[in-house]
Amino acid sequence: MKRIAVLGATGSIGASALDVIARHPGRFRASVLGANARVDDLIALCRIHRPDHAVIARDEHYVTLRDALATAGLATQAHAGPEALAALAAGPDCDTVIAAIVGAAGMASTLAAARTGKHLLLANKESVVLAGDLLMRACREHGARVIPIDSEHNAIFQCLHGQAADLDRVAKLILTASGGPFLNRSRAELSEVTAEQACNHPNWKMGRKISVDSATLMNKGLEVIEAHWLFGMPAARIDVLVHPQSIVHSMVEFGDGSTLAQMGRPDMRTTLACGLAWPERVDSGVAPPDLGQIGALSFQPPDRATFACLDLAYDALAAGGTAGATLNAANEVAVASFLDGRIGFLDIPAVIAGTLDACGSQPADSLDTLLAADATARRHATGCVERRTGAHA
Ligand SMILES: NC(=O)c1ccc[n+]([C@@H]2O[C@H](COP(=O)([O-])OP(=O)(O)OC[C@H]3O[C@@H](n4cnc5c(N)ncnc54)[C@H](OP(=O)(O)O)[C@@H]3O)[C@@H](O)[C@H]2O)c1
Repeated sequence: MKRIAVLGATGSIGASALDVIARHPGRFRASVLGANARVDDLIALCRIHRPDHAVIARDEHYVTLRDALATAGLATQAHAGPEALAALAAGPDCDTVIAAIVGAAGMASTLAAARTGKHLLLANKESVVLAGDLLMRACREHGARVIPIDSEHNAIFQCLHGQAADLDRVAKLILTASGGPFLNRSRAELSEVTAEQACNHPNWKMGRKISVDSATLMNKGLEVIEAHWLFGMPAARIDVLVHPQSIVHSMVEFGDGSTLAQMGRPDMRTTLACGLAWPERVDSGVAPPDLGQIGALSFQPPDRATFACLDLAYDALAAGGTAGATLNAANEVAVASFLDGRIGFLDIPAVIAGTLDACGSQPADSLDTLLAADATARRHATGCVERRTGAHA
């Protein structure tokens, strides 16, 4: 029986993970559930899944959580605070950790799982962008097996049969991108788009932050950096191709002219089932794509001039050091400000570019250096947002 910590249990990935886990009661058990502030949702999940531990990151909800679990007659122990999240990820009551917290907030618990050699199902791409080198080194040193829970990287992982990319064998990784809700729009057409429109993804149902990232193509940019660290592939051999149907989740080109692709419906339960059962296969609740009915699969290059975030991510990867942390922090600030209606859609790349220019890149020799770069970038990006807020209002 795999005992699984689902961190980010109340989110979109958390829901998909718990759906797959519940399909296999003899095989998987959610032993730890974690969330940030949606304590009522967390309590509801505890009633269904009966974990050993439930943890809410925001301390002020601790008493509500503890009392509700007791009233429901559950044996689930209540915990609160980010330290408790990391301690449970590292602790003896789980062997598998689904890292599905959104943003850099997931860094500490992801690293804690890596440092204790857990089986790490990694959805929290921001921690890879922030500290990919450090995180992958911790996984290697402590024997933590990482299975990517991003449909693209999971597709590549499957095409490589779960092995590391061998640079002599693999010519190129091709990440597919749906293009998001604003595919084929011009820059002028993007100036007035709203948060609701940006979150209305044509194929995927996801949390709001990643939905905006998908609309700006920053999601693909973060994934290029993620692919670099996960598979040890230089940026020059990672390409992006827009594929609006979201059926081919990514591809690997080999030196002999073969290209392998993984296909599936746009439903993260397939990815999670793969990660949970690997190298076996279990039911995910998702049917295979009906290619006869879909009819045609199309591909086109991304519009890098209009969706400038993609190249900002390639630039940050080329700069190296703390630039990934700066890019990620600036993007988190810019996206939150866009979702709050304080800046426009086109301000997002401008805030990130301004922050990257202001912060530059230093060698990333420790987690402290990276966290300091993250904090500095958040300050700069907040300043950039404040200067733009007047213009947007
Ligand atoms: N959704 C997808 O299809 C998809 C695909 C690939 C990768 N990912 C990645 O997976 C991660 C989660 O995405 P999502 O779409 O599931 O996001 P989401 O729906 O917004 O859920 C985010 C989860 O993280 C929790 N959380 C937020 N801040 C936290 C904090 N400071 N401490 C502890 N928990 C915190 C939230 O708790 P509350 O509910 O209490 O706020 C929620 O459970 C992201 O890194 C995303 O890039 C998502």
